[in-house]
Amino acid sequence: LLYSRVNVVFIDRSGQRIPVEARVGDNALHLAHNSSLFAGACEASLACSTCHVYVSSEHYEKLPEEDDMLDMAAMLQENSRLSCQIVLTPEMDGMELTLPKVTRNFYVDGHVPKPH
Ligand code: FES
Repeated sequence: LLYSRVNVVFIDRSGQRIPVEARVGDNALHLAHNSSLFAGACEASLACSTCHVYVSSEHYEKLPEEDDMLDMAAMLQENSRLSCQIVLTPEMDGMELTLPKVTRNFYVDGHVPKPH
């Protein structure tokens, strides 16, 4: 299928580009996890903000609205997203996801009680 593949590039904290071939329907956090980049501390339950990334602007506009924990994320920017909420569509081909220099894990820091 022509549109079943989506190419995504992660840019890690040292600026290195890590291209990843993904499928439509894949979750960006799982991709990052599979590429050993980072793991979301709350397993995508929207409670930790450790999966925070910056999305390339032309792709950011294509993402659905998100109601999330981003107020808590360190180093927030206009194009910030929680990668655990990004599900890949064909339009996201070529998307670049940049890791912030700092992520905050509120569980570890003790700001938020861990849900059961
Ligand atoms: Fe916790 Fe995304 S993995 S908010």
